[in-house]
Amino acid sequence: TTDIQQLLLSRVHDIPDFPKPGVLFKDLNPLFADAAAFAAVLDHIASRWEGKVDMVGGIEARGFIVGTPLAQRMGVGFLPVRKAGKLPGETISQTYDLEYGTATVEVAKDACRGKRVLLVDDVLATGGTASATAQLLQRAGAEVAGLEFLLEVAFLQGRALLADHEISVVAQA
Ligand code: PRP
Ligand code: MG
Repeated sequence: TTDIQQLLLSRVHDIPDFPKPGVLFKDLNPLFADAAAFAAVLDHIASRWEGKVDMVGGIEARGFIVGTPLAQRMGVGFLPVRKAGKLPGETISQTYDLEYGTATVEVAKDACRGKRVLLVDDVLATGGTASATAQLLQRAGAEVAGLEFLLEVAFLQGRALLADHEISVVAQA
């Protein structure tokens, strides 16, 4: 375990049975509350992708917390990937399956065409959200340069859905 992994893992709070019985929720708010630790994690990610991307795309909502300060550090623009019905103007959307029902992610139609986009989110769990978003960005004409997560819940094997992409994670739980 590296120093940065140790730092991040020391600022994850495990919450049993949230949001429902049997689920162990990974709360990253202690990391976000610690300016120095959060900055160290963002610098670590930025150095990995520096010069390789034109935009950082963040997935609503927790991906916004990570993606906007990261984009600023890297000197590139931020692309908000939103849940259904939130963006004005023409959009492209992608629907994916959840355990119960479906969810939809959307992006503005011409916001990332021809751009190398780094997609970021807080947690990689089943991979459903990230894989749908990667497909969405490709349909919108972007090149998905890679995906980055603060934390991977390894036993859920979300990586299997993202096999076509370059993935990195700060730490595994
Ligand atoms: C959580 C998390 C990731 C996603 C990971 O978001 O922030 O986006 O689930 O799960 P998956 O790999 O199984 O798709 P959630 O949909 O709970 O919403 P939020 O970010 O708005 O809190
Ligand atoms: Mg999320």
